Amino acid sequence: MNLILMGLPGAGKGTQAERIVENYGLPHISTGDMFRSAIKEGTELGQKAKSYMDAGDLVPDEVTIGIVRERLGKDDCKNGFLLDGFPRTVAQAEALEEIMSDSDRHIDAVLYIDVDQNKLLKRLTGRRVCSHCGATYHVEFNPPHEPGKCDKCGNELKQRDDDSEETVRARLEVNAKQQKTLLDFYRDKGYLRTIDGNRHIDEVYESIKQILGSLQK
Ligand code: AP5
Ligand code: MG
Ligand code: ZN
Repeated sequence: MNLILMGLPGAGKGTQAERIVENYGLPHISTGDMFRSAIKEGTELGQKAKSYMDAGDLVPDEVTIGIVRERLGKDDCKNGFLLDGFPRTVAQAEALEEIMSDSDRHIDAVLYIDVDQNKLLKRLTGRRVCSHCGATYHVEFNPPHEPGKCDKCGNELKQRDDDSEETVRARLEVNAKQQKTLLDFYRDKGYLRTIDGNRHIDEVYESIKQILGSLQK
């Protein structure tokens, strides 16, 4: 299955992706994660992305499309993939259509996690991420067994640099604007599947499983 996870910052893309990739064996392709590791490694890509991310802005399309094109060309994507946070603009979506048709593939579904915007600030400012394995928690909604420590690997939990209230507000504004036209784009193509993301993490995942089950039939 070739899948796209869409949703505003804090909608739960990463949280659901963790489960989907574990159960369906798909590679998880998160452009946000790719940029963060490039920044950590101090690569040229990281230098290009950092100022945009710090400001809560989108990284320019040509940079983002380039890394996704390269990633989707790798062998592990041949039997399916889960894109998380890409595309975010119509230009990116059009480029993805081209990448797919050039390699004789197509997108099976766009899973859009729809959450009331007023919930997102609290989700993001309370998020904690494992510094080692990337597992995602929330101080209130999905707390680790031991505060500040990852359940899976025991390493320290940290706050993401862009999860300060000021940057979160900028991210929400920028992404909400882009998302509207992108939803229309995928609705027109017939790919769009909307999931109510206001519910508990487990219930959201149940809905995703149902959709994926229907695609596999
Ligand atoms: P990225 O890393 O993708 O950030 P984002 O889109 O802002 O989304 P998040 O990762 O913040 O949210 P999420 O939906 O994954 O939520 P999560 O599951 O963690 O991108 C970062 C930056 O990179 C962008 O700002 C941009 O600069 C750049 N970038 C990336 N892709 C780009 C692109 N295509 N084009 C241009 N630039 C790009 O959950 C959030 C919190 O809520 C967690 O604490 C979690 O435990 C909790 N939670 C999750 N689900 C629930 C639930 N159902 N109920 C209660 N709490 C929940
Ligand atoms: Mg994420
Ligand atoms: Zn961990």
